[in-house]
Amino acid sequence: MTDAGLMDRIEKHRAQITVVGQGYVGLPLAVEFARAGFCVAGLDTDPDRVAALSIGRSPSPDVESDDLMALVRAGRYAPTSDFSILEQSDVVIICVPTPLRKSKDPDISFVMLAAERIAARFRPGQLVILESTTYPGTTEELLLPLFEARQARVGVNFFLAFSPERIDPGNTAFKVRDIPKIVGGATTDCTRLAALLYRQIVPRVIEVSSPKVAELAKLYENVFRNVNIALANEFALMCRRLDVNTREVIDAAATKPFGFLPFHPGPGIGGHCIPIDPFYLAWKMRLNGYEARFIHLADEINRSMPDHIVELVTEALNQDRRCPNGSKILALGVAYKRGVGDTRESPALEILARLREKGAEVAYADPHVPSVILDGMVLKAVELTDQDLAAADCVLILTDHPEFDYRRIVAVARLVVDSRNATWGMPTPPGRVIRL
Ligand SMILES: NC(=O)c1ccc[n+]([C@@H]2O[C@H](COP(=O)([O-])OP(=O)(O)OC[C@H]3O[C@@H](n4cnc5c(N)ncnc54)[C@H](O)[C@@H]3O)[C@@H](O)[C@H]2O)c1
Repeated sequence: MTDAGLMDRIEKHRAQITVVGQGYVGLPLAVEFARAGFCVAGLDTDPDRVAALSIGRSPSPDVESDDLMALVRAGRYAPTSDFSILEQSDVVIICVPTPLRKSKDPDISFVMLAAERIAARFRPGQLVILESTTYPGTTEELLLPLFEARQARVGVNFFLAFSPERIDPGNTAFKVRDIPKIVGGATTDCTRLAALLYRQIVPRVIEVSSPKVAELAKLYENVFRNVNIALANEFALMCRRLDVNTREVIDAAATKPFGFLPFHPGPGIGGHCIPIDPFYLAWKMRLNGYEARFIHLADEINRSMPDHIVELVTEALNQDRRCPNGSKILALGVAYKRGVGDTRESPALEILARLREKGAEVAYADPHVPSVILDGMVLKAVELTDQDLAAADCVLILTDHPEFDYRRIVAVARLVVDSRNATWGMPTPPGRVIRL
């Protein structure tokens, strides 16, 4: 198939698309293409995930199970573990995990495994796009040679691009089609084709000059966020020493209509992007003889926050002539951010484990997380009742889920440590609510 043939199939929504990896990123993307009328295969190595998707059960906060089921029934979306689907695919989009090793070096084994399996089934005319967040150079230095070894000639009978995924799972204001797509192809034709594909589902597509620019743009976005969260966290530590509420300062500063973007302190960072992606860049730079100082400093500050929260709880209990040992702590929220049930890298888990180490009796409520594993043991969520709130020696707000009634919480609880400033602005008796 020629470049023109593929263009035509894309424009007519007749191109067969396979999205490799059906997680937080791959599933909503596959569904968006399927909604646009494409036939989409959702390829995943996890048989349980494929089985659940096949019966329309969505694990993603961004995809409703009913919508998924309708697309499965209409034959627009087909989850599968069978890699032979790649032999029929015009377009293959890779959305597999890119975690860190224990050494904090990139682990791109998932990307490489997926790419090797795709290259092994290479079909002339195919467009392959990498969406997984990765270090600059991955697309052209690692993926391209795999395909060239299979007689693929980039820009001629094979099209390769990087287009970073920028989704924010659970964000109802910005879903797949609301987030502009950046596209950098290995050649101009590759960029053109990949951009054409995304324009079928996203109104704004930005073409950049190379995959490396697109890879770096994503990393810069996440480093920017990581560093600014670290700045807000350090600012909170300073405000505490000055006996000033951080939230009030940040809200006041945010009234400046230009040159300022508010970030807020919290119990630490979680999820699979902000704590991890910056290290992809730091690693690559180290290979280039350069230490990425901001990245390391931001990580140091952000990782110190769970300790700081444990310290706040200890101080708060101390005011009540108590100590963590033997105290009942009721944590509100264990997800790493509001409105979702994602506990990956969640600082809440670290905080609860530390409090338990200190002898506290720990319970938690989270409408999105029915249970967590703490120190190898299952801890089940409790229903948030006035009785539990009143019985706790300290109520610790770790995730500012919209479902919590913060007025009620401050009214009923004896002592509240609020690591999210969720109770900011609410009248509270002196010394009963400690905010970050
Ligand atoms: N989650 C986010 O908020 C987010 C946002 C933007 C970018 N990203 C990036 O997108 C990528 C994917 O992240 P995610 O959150 O969707 O991960 P995820 O863990 O939710 O999903 C990844 C899926 O890929 C599957 N998988 C692993 N190896 C595979 C293989 N070889 N072939 C087929 N399937 C395979 C897994 O079974 C899993 O279902 C990562 O690089 C991540 O950094 C994530």
